[in-house]
Amino acid sequence: MTRRAKVFVSRIIPEAGLGRVRAACDVDVWQDALPPPYDVLKSRVFGVEGILSTLNDQIDDELMDAAGDSLKVISQMSVGVDNIDVVAAHRRGIKVGNTPGVLTDATADIAMALLLAAARRIVEGVEYIQSGHWRTWEPMGLLGGDLSGATLGLIGLGRIGRAVARRARGFEMRLVAHSPSCPAEEAAALGVTLVSLEQVLREADYLSIHVPLKPDTRHMIDRDRLALMKKSAILINTARGAIVDQMALYDAVKNRDIGGAALDVTDPEPIPLNDPLLTLPNVIVVPHIGSASHRTRDKMAAMAAENLLAGLAGHSLPNEV
Ligand code: DGY
Repeated sequence: MTRRAKVFVSRIIPEAGLGRVRAACDVDVWQDALPPPYDVLKSRVFGVEGILSTLNDQIDDELMDAAGDSLKVISQMSVGVDNIDVVAAHRRGIKVGNTPGVLTDATADIAMALLLAAARRIVEGVEYIQSGHWRTWEPMGLLGGDLSGATLGLIGLGRIGRAVARRARGFEMRLVAHSPSCPAEEAAALGVTLVSLEQVLREADYLSIHVPLKPDTRHMIDRDRLALMKKSAILINTARGAIVDQMALYDAVKNRDIGGAALDVTDPEPIPLNDPLLTLPNVIVVPHIGSASHRTRDKMAAMAAENLLAGLAGHSLPNEV
């Protein structure tokens, strides 16, 4: 009988991935709706060869110590791996996998959904009806912003930023981006003008963030940078909450220094119910659902399973960080 590798899967994930892991490994799947607390995670990974993680799991040096020398691969079911100490993993010879590409379209769709919802005050409109305020068509009621002719500023022009740019062109928006690593001709082919970060902030009617969370992007959008934005501008964040200084964002929206915000990601997650941001009518917050389409989550799970199985077999991962 062939030996089956012992692995821990930290959440119930789509069968497209879980089925493949179950078929090949001796699997311990965390069954709760909430992620395992850190101490529990530490005890559950003891002696495993592979971990299939999600962005909720704190995977640091201590956790890898708790797993022990058997750990060969950490396969995360997301593209962002800011919860994993990748340097520590590599130092120990542990491979780290992620799921780039398959969630690009779904995440770009959510960025556009938030942009449209904030521009045209969709959530306020729903609440207006539900609270019994809608009495007639109103010539001056719930007026919002147009997309056509407006400037969309993109911070980051990687896969997701580019997918948002392609969508925004269909809405006849003018596109500027800050993306030091994007070749100018590639940006030009998308109809995007590359400019400095300050210029994006100053010119954007809608600002959409598409950079990973790293030490140098944490609180990249701080009080000073928010102060550069137009008073009417709307900030959209589908990347990671901590890229924006959330207290500074609250102050900027509250004091009408910017027009509003639409967030798929917050810092922390979930956003506490008493967070002042949730009291502002021109702030929309949704619960990190950028990749939450059936097809996308199936693909993410399948890709995470492939990475895990490759790492267990001692091969390089199809998508290695
Ligand atoms: C990712 O893959 O990093 C996304 O945030 C998950 O939705």
